[in-house]
Amino acid sequence: MVYEMPVKVYQERNAVANHAGELAALGRKACIVTGRHSSRQNGSLEDVLSALKAEGREWEVFDGIEENPSVETVVKAAQAGIRAQADFVIGIGGGSPLDAAKAVALLMASRQEWEADGLEAALCYLYAKKPCPCLPVAAVPTTAGTGSEVTPYAVLTLHREHTKRSISHRIFPEIALVDERYLEGMDRDILVNTAVDALAHLIESYLNTNAASYADMFCERGLYLFGQAKEGLAAQVPPPGQYGRQLEISTLAGMAISHTGTSLPHGMSYSLTYEKGVPHGRAVGFFQKAYIDAYEGAARKERLLELMGFADVEALGAYIEGLTGRIAISREELERYTKKMMGDARKLANFPYPMTEEKMRGMFEKSLEIR
Ligand SMILES: [Fe+2]
Repeated sequence: MVYEMPVKVYQERNAVANHAGELAALGRKACIVTGRHSSRQNGSLEDVLSALKAEGREWEVFDGIEENPSVETVVKAAQAGIRAQADFVIGIGGGSPLDAAKAVALLMASRQEWEADGLEAALCYLYAKKPCPCLPVAAVPTTAGTGSEVTPYAVLTLHREHTKRSISHRIFPEIALVDERYLEGMDRDILVNTAVDALAHLIESYLNTNAASYADMFCERGLYLFGQAKEGLAAQVPPPGQYGRQLEISTLAGMAISHTGTSLPHGMSYSLTYEKGVPHGRAVGFFQKAYIDAYEGAARKERLLELMGFADVEALGAYIEGLTGRIAISREELERYTKKMMGDARKLANFPYPMTEEKMRGMFEKSLEIR
């Protein structure tokens, strides 16, 4: 077994202000990577700028990160950071800006490797299987889903391949400043979709080829806390403390998948997100029940249900469906998505049993309406 969790995580109110000195210690000038609106609305960007100002640091803001960020956008952000001569990167937002920040830090550290040859060279560099230098990254999450602030993954959209894929390099942030204040007032849809993503990380990590004690300890605590938080999440108005609990769950879930990776539902979800714009959390949620059904280890499944307080897999499936609803795809899409998933060797490897095209098609059919 390997244990690797090098991120220093502070989860507390006013985390950015409280740890401004540690943030500033990462460099002289920050390249801030964020989305267009939410970090301005929830106060996180302002907190980071105030902290940098108080510590006498400079910054450059790149606020053009879209949902499911593309390689093209990441290259633009890296070029902006290079022009500004920034020497560290701060990602602020949901999974998209945080993942983008890691890829930006990687590209900024080695401009000579790709800049002259443009997008194609950057793409090769991001997906190269060799160790590469990287600028320090800080992460300020504003959703409770991906756990990207504690994972080494950076999932980018590859338009050429009509899908999403994590870059080949493992890049952990140096520091994660986790503050529930940024979640207060978020849309319920975003709260629910991101929470389902965190749940999916726990389930896919617990029922995984790489599952072992070091990851299990994060999964078991996360599943237990999810069980405690599940009614509050399903309520129309989240009860007091719900956002902090969801952040604790998503951070634990991130620590879990850092050790195991995600499995089939994540791979199966990418076509729905790429082709139909289904939010990531909702898309992975559709496939959880079929995944648990396909997993053959009875004792582990029983423990999972017990930790979460569900009587059986049906009850867990009904709970998730209550949050995600269902969607329909066509026969043609079913065939295409099945074939694509059978080509995703990394996700298939994290499911501990042999998989056939027929079984995979069956999992899609169980999870979605087929028109
Ligand atoms: Fe995810």
